[in-house]
Amino acid sequence: MIETSTPNKLSNLNKKDPSQKQAAVFHKMKRLKPLSIRKPSIAKKRPQIKNISQQFSHAETILSITDLCVYFSATKVLKNININFPKKGLVAIMGPSGCGKSTLIRAINRMHELDQSTNVTGKLMLGNQDITTLPAMAVRQRIGMVFQRPNPFPNMTIFQNVLSGYILTGMRLNKKQKNEIVIENLKKAFLWDEVKDRLHERGTFLSGGQQQRLCIARSLAMQVDVLLLDEPTSALDPIATTRIENLLQTLKKEIPIIMVTHNTAQASRISDYTAFLYLGELIEYNKTKIMFTVPSDKRTEAYLMGRFG
Ligand SMILES: Nc1ncnc2c1ncn2[C@@H]1O[C@H](COP(=O)(O)OP(=O)(O)OP(=O)(O)O)[C@@H](O)[C@H]1O
Ligand SMILES: [Mg+2]
Repeated sequence: MIETSTPNKLSNLNKKDPSQKQAAVFHKMKRLKPLSIRKPSIAKKRPQIKNISQQFSHAETILSITDLCVYFSATKVLKNININFPKKGLVAIMGPSGCGKSTLIRAINRMHELDQSTNVTGKLMLGNQDITTLPAMAVRQRIGMVFQRPNPFPNMTIFQNVLSGYILTGMRLNKKQKNEIVIENLKKAFLWDEVKDRLHERGTFLSGGQQQRLCIARSLAMQVDVLLLDEPTSALDPIATTRIENLLQTLKKEIPIIMVTHNTAQASRISDYTAFLYLGELIEYNKTKIMFTVPSDKRTEAYLMGRFG
């Protein structure tokens, strides 16, 4: 809306008086500028979207979580989380230490199952399938997880580690299939060139960043539908971190990725969407570009500004 003004008021001003001259210029500007520029408070108004999940159609959604609660004994650590993850792209999960980020992705991967004092409630749909009804092993064959500390199987070689999903589930492969799977997935994980001459050495002899990429290759070899990563670069130096980030930038074009990170710069560099958790609640979930420029919640803003974390 453009404000109309009364030209008479301007003509009545004494232009030789500097304060009146300034008033005349300001008055003229007020006439020309649209409302949003004149009132920055309105321009900066927070967006209404707190959770982008509803904007993904069923066809665009790979994983849908409804009312997820996780209790450790009597403590409710995750409080009614509702979030849908898209089939395309990388979602970063951020939030201060202890807010429940790892608990969330561990619940997706059914890692709490063996703990008697942990109770998980809610609905998790992978595509059209309710995965809460599946055995944990079946879920892990479809949802891969890479942990903060890389964990190649210590008694297996690099070659065997890539094939471990097949070995541990008793799936039989011939020599040609094994070679193809190992080469293809080590290449996909940007590791092939570094290990092609030492495939029969133990995976634990590799550097931290290489072990992390070996664990990613292991998940990729199982052709999982989703890849979960819990702070995959927190123990790595900047060069190894960049290698993993480059890898994830490429992989996210082929496979949906959900990654916990403390590193806000990393989230802004490589994620398409960001979810912000605080004290076990999903506070905000939106496109990363939007959340990092105009967060809809003051707590998200405070976290992004480094005011707590
Ligand atoms: N197995 C468990 N038994 C009891 N409490 C647990 C268990 N696992 C996690 N917690 C508690 O649940 C809360 C959330 O933990 P979680 O590991 O999910 O936090 P986080 O956001 O991943 O933190 P960080 O950024 O430090 O990794 C914490 O208070 C933690 O102490
Ligand atoms: Mg954690």
